[in-house]
Amino acid sequence: MKGDKTFYVCSECEYRAPKWLGRCPSCGAWNTLEEHTESTGEKEKAVKRTTRSRATEYKKLEMPKYMRKSTGMNELDRVLGGGIVEGSVVLIAGEPGIGKSTLLMQICDVLSESSRVLYVSGEESAGQLKYRAERLKVSGENLYILTETDIDDIIDECNDVAPAFVIIDSIQTMYCPGVSSSAGSVTQIKESTMRFISLAKGEEKGMSVLIVGHVNKEGNIAGPKVLEHMVDAVLSFEGDREQSYRIIRASKNRYGSTNEIGVFEMTGEGLMEVPNPSEMLLSGRPKNISGNCAVCVMEGTRPLITEIQALVSKSVFPSPKRAANGIDYNRMYLILAVLEKRLGLRFSSCDAYLNVIGGIRFEEPAADLAISLSLISSIRDIPIPDDVIAFGEIGLAGEIRAVSSPDQRVNEAARLGFKKILLPKRSYEAIKKIYSSDSGIELIPVKSIFDALKILSSENDNNS
Ligand code: TYD
Ligand code: MG
Repeated sequence: MKGDKTFYVCSECEYRAPKWLGRCPSCGAWNTLEEHTESTGEKEKAVKRTTRSRATEYKKLEMPKYMRKSTGMNELDRVLGGGIVEGSVVLIAGEPGIGKSTLLMQICDVLSESSRVLYVSGEESAGQLKYRAERLKVSGENLYILTETDIDDIIDECNDVAPAFVIIDSIQTMYCPGVSSSAGSVTQIKESTMRFISLAKGEEKGMSVLIVGHVNKEGNIAGPKVLEHMVDAVLSFEGDREQSYRIIRASKNRYGSTNEIGVFEMTGEGLMEVPNPSEMLLSGRPKNISGNCAVCVMEGTRPLITEIQALVSKSVFPSPKRAANGIDYNRMYLILAVLEKRLGLRFSSCDAYLNVIGGIRFEEPAADLAISLSLISSIRDIPIPDDVIAFGEIGLAGEIRAVSSPDQRVNEAARLGFKKILLPKRSYEAIKKIYSSDSGIELIPVKSIFDALKILSSENDNNS
């Protein structure tokens, strides 16, 4: 059309090029440039501005009251900040096959007990959905199923059925007939999401929309991150598809904290909540093996105990191998450098592997002390006793620095039967009065990594 401009956009990084290219010059991905057309704006210029927004005095603004609806799963409610907010748009992101549709079908059962729910699937047939719902023992009193990918039809059906909750599974399959590019492209995903946002934020109805987004290999929500800034909350599924544990984390939440996680287990009857994840993570711990150390980290308001495993072995490569699962790579390098410099341990000639049990990812530096202990334990081949647990942040001088909520961490460790708790000296000073000597728990203050090494060696002498 006259006045339309054609250009090409990379579906991975949104780089814009005037002509088609086989490889994106920005991110280097192959065959990702897609054709787009845009009106040059002559039509828009012709439209007269009719309304104008006015600023409101801050003091006159009213405090909004968020109506929340429980999903029937405590673990999920906590991540959402107390339930699904009426009129909000939530993105559920995760790799294909991790359990997004399963979780949504399960919460449909609870939500439909008191409200009307519409489940729109662009991926599965009504029969497949029925089969899954039966397996999950969904009664589905007020549940409606629509298998459709055309946005216009879906919006019309939403207006007719007038549900309180709409599930869109998945955004990559949805298609706006007015947009020229194919389903799953950045433009389609953006446009479809915009339509659902206006449906959710519509004056009179205020439906809550839960959108499923598949994540590609690189961990981006396909159509890279384009949705994250548009929606109210993003819940990401983490965990290994081969293992049964699933962790749901809020990577963005306009109605709550982003630190909370929910832990689930995939069973034959769907996802089951794991209210005490520490017990699950510690089950099956190997005994008397060097390189293993229990750690307590805070996940939002909740302490979580898991185990760090280190394996350090003589390297046969010119540059030693390093691999970390669940721990930031740079953090691992930093800790290895501190241990090498301050304790003289020769990690530079060794391969080092670190792993956190249960697919947990540490975001907190409080795991540093336990990571250091597991590395020392492995290189020296000194096992750490089962009843020892550690937390504390390490500084570049090898000092162990205080961390938040030491009392909550100690309580959780005591609840799970740990007897010796290594903690930063400053944190120890803050809480020592709470724990009497006859409580059966020994709090061991650690000032520096030298102290930690001494304690580890003496523990080993006592045990042997
Ligand atoms: P699904 O929810 O379809 O994944 P997604 O929507 O994220 O792509 O779940 C996929 C896996 O979960 C599938 O491999 C089978 C397994 N599963 C169970 O183990 N138990 C169950 O009760 C259900 C419904 C699925
Ligand atoms: Mg699915």
